[in-house]
Amino acid sequence: MRFHGLGVLASGRGSNLESILKARARGELSIPTLVVLSDNPDAPALAIARAAGIEALTLPTGPFRTRLSAEAEGDWAASLRQRGVDLVALAGFMRVLHAPFLSSFPDAILNIHPSLLPAFPGLRAQAQALEWGVQWAGCTVHFVNEGVDAGPIVEQAVVPVKAGDTVETLSARILEMEHRIYPTAIERVARGAIRIEGRRVFPAAPNIISRDMQR
Ligand code: GRF
Repeated sequence: MRFHGLGVLASGRGSNLESILKARARGELSIPTLVVLSDNPDAPALAIARAAGIEALTLPTGPFRTRLSAEAEGDWAASLRQRGVDLVALAGFMRVLHAPFLSSFPDAILNIHPSLLPAFPGLRAQAQALEWGVQWAGCTVHFVNEGVDAGPIVEQAVVPVKAGDTVETLSARILEMEHRIYPTAIERVARGAIRIEGRRVFPAAPNIISRDMQR
């Protein structure tokens, strides 16, 4: 399946959003970003979107801190659909999504996480990696399901943990890779170049196009 319009959900800094917009400007991303939604009116991501001429909105979240209410999830999904969004990218979005939102975009929500999943899901992934003493860290682009950082993996990149690393230096090394692999992974998904089988993601079967054309 090909996707035609990207919606980005961001709560903060927006550097991954920026890398997506830059990849599009360089002609490396076929899918346009149609809208950016945030739960945080002060998110720098909103200014980054607007500076690029992209609609950016803060929508109500309901009473919870770590998720959206069911009603809010319905509204967020409707706002995206109304604008032609069929693929969603979470980019530093700090709330866990549930059924009303997930079922609006089946197999069409991506997230980037700053660890080599399934190691270190959740918050403070880079600090967890340092505390554990791993020698290799990295980042993962994955589909979003009901679990936390738990869906099928689309792309991963590895970076070394160096002696003397702090959370800041390791995070910066990982972030550089995030900015490379997120646009690439979004492009593969948007072009319909992958298929999901259980937990695993494979290159799409090459005969899909010819089968469509035979109809
Ligand atoms: C990134 O480290 C990303 O992996 C995680 O949240 C951070 C967001 O950073 N999910 P930014 O807002 O994209 O700069």
